[in-house]
Amino acid sequence: MNEDARHLLSFVPEKSIDVTITSPPYYDLKDYRDPRQIGFGQKFEGYRNDLTHVFSDVLKATKETGSLWVVVDNMRVEGKLVLLPFEMAEWIRGAGWILQDILVWDKMKTRPVTRGLGLRKVYENILVFSRTKNFKTHLDKIRDYELTRWWVKWPERYKSSGKVPADIWSFLIPSQGNWSRWPIFKHQKLHECPFPPELVERILLLTTDANDAVLDPFAGSGMTLAVASCMKLRFTGFEINETYLRNFWNEVVPTVRNWYQEKHSQRVLSDDEMEIRLEKLKKLKFARILSTRLVGQVPAFGPVSTFLLEENEVIDVFLLYDEMMQGMQRLDHPSPDLAKAVVQKLLSTKELKTFGIKANTHVLSAGEFAHEMKDYLSSIQLWLYKRHHMFESSIRFDDWIAKYKDERWKEAYSMGKSPPLISNIDIYQKEPD
Ligand SMILES: C[S@@+](CC[C@H](N)C(=O)[O-])C[C@H]1O[C@@H](n2cnc3c(N)ncnc32)[C@H](O)[C@@H]1O
Repeated sequence: MNEDARHLLSFVPEKSIDVTITSPPYYDLKDYRDPRQIGFGQKFEGYRNDLTHVFSDVLKATKETGSLWVVVDNMRVEGKLVLLPFEMAEWIRGAGWILQDILVWDKMKTRPVTRGLGLRKVYENILVFSRTKNFKTHLDKIRDYELTRWWVKWPERYKSSGKVPADIWSFLIPSQGNWSRWPIFKHQKLHECPFPPELVERILLLTTDANDAVLDPFAGSGMTLAVASCMKLRFTGFEINETYLRNFWNEVVPTVRNWYQEKHSQRVLSDDEMEIRLEKLKKLKFARILSTRLVGQVPAFGPVSTFLLEENEVIDVFLLYDEMMQGMQRLDHPSPDLAKAVVQKLLSTKELKTFGIKANTHVLSAGEFAHEMKDYLSSIQLWLYKRHHMFESSIRFDDWIAKYKDERWKEAYSMGKSPPLISNIDIYQKEPD
């Protein structure tokens, strides 16, 4: 509802909520353009008092067995690091909640920060509170069971499944980069910081039973509520920005429903579908290992990118080198012919033969490849991989042409000796713990 979270108790009955999942504004980092907003334009003390008030009302609205999950990040005010997660944990404790845990949410990708050590910032904290000591958790519901059969067929990566997840949770943010699984959030279109639906789903699995009630007092895009609706839970949210509210019904709910349906139809994959996935993984890993071994054996190869293209069951692996290495003809560089010979040798090694994959291989300069393939590849969907089992984003061929020489780009998507891998095969398969 388009109401101020400070008036929550006028709308939500006491002891009616099972779980609250939220992320309040991070002090004055962002202007949400509404006079009722908490954070922006406030003194720190006012911000603290307002949030303490809201979380104290959320406590009253929560059942004895209920819990509260708050996603929050450190921030800098005038260059000084503010330990917002820890300060906020104390405010919320002060409001009467019991602090149960502090988790790390690994966002896997984010923008670089220029201050402090200048490292890329990839995590936020998740503060977990309960109303009483006797709170609801269903750890068994968040074990990874569904992939067990995979590991039987895929012993190379076998790890015991059915494990309880650790306290670092890795979920990609939907709004950054070109992650086209969430075009509605791409480039921060609908909201700057929507939760990943997978994160919300995990918390809801852990904390709710059928028909339970979910609350988000700072709903933003409404991701918490949209996932709750998919899981047939009751939900209430507060959001002062009317546009977010409109987008919630028109765009977020339908998109998240599709995601949920697709995700859950994949859970009961038939044997055939499992095989198809496994084949994709094998092909991608095959290309990755081939390029790694090539660079291992021909260090002067100067790898740029590897392309794996599949058409009508036939796969082609393009091992691309830097055109500067055209100087490969020079005496101090190995020639492309040497690289080709090494590739042929590698294909007959046991390591690559176990994949059972027949591939046409090509050793080419990146420039030549770009020139020859431009027409064909500009019209097809390509995916960029760092890890072979999980694309990082979709990529247009033109973008690749613009970026492949950029050392930072190359480094960001290289894996060990293997350069970025680009393919028309799409797979986004998380590796279970
Ligand atoms: C960090 S964002 C939440 C993002 C959300 N987790 C999502 O998945 O999209 C915080 C939100 O709180 C809203 N907000 C700020 N002050 C508020 C208030 N007094 N009452 C309700 N919402 C408020 C802002 O408009 C903003 O959308």
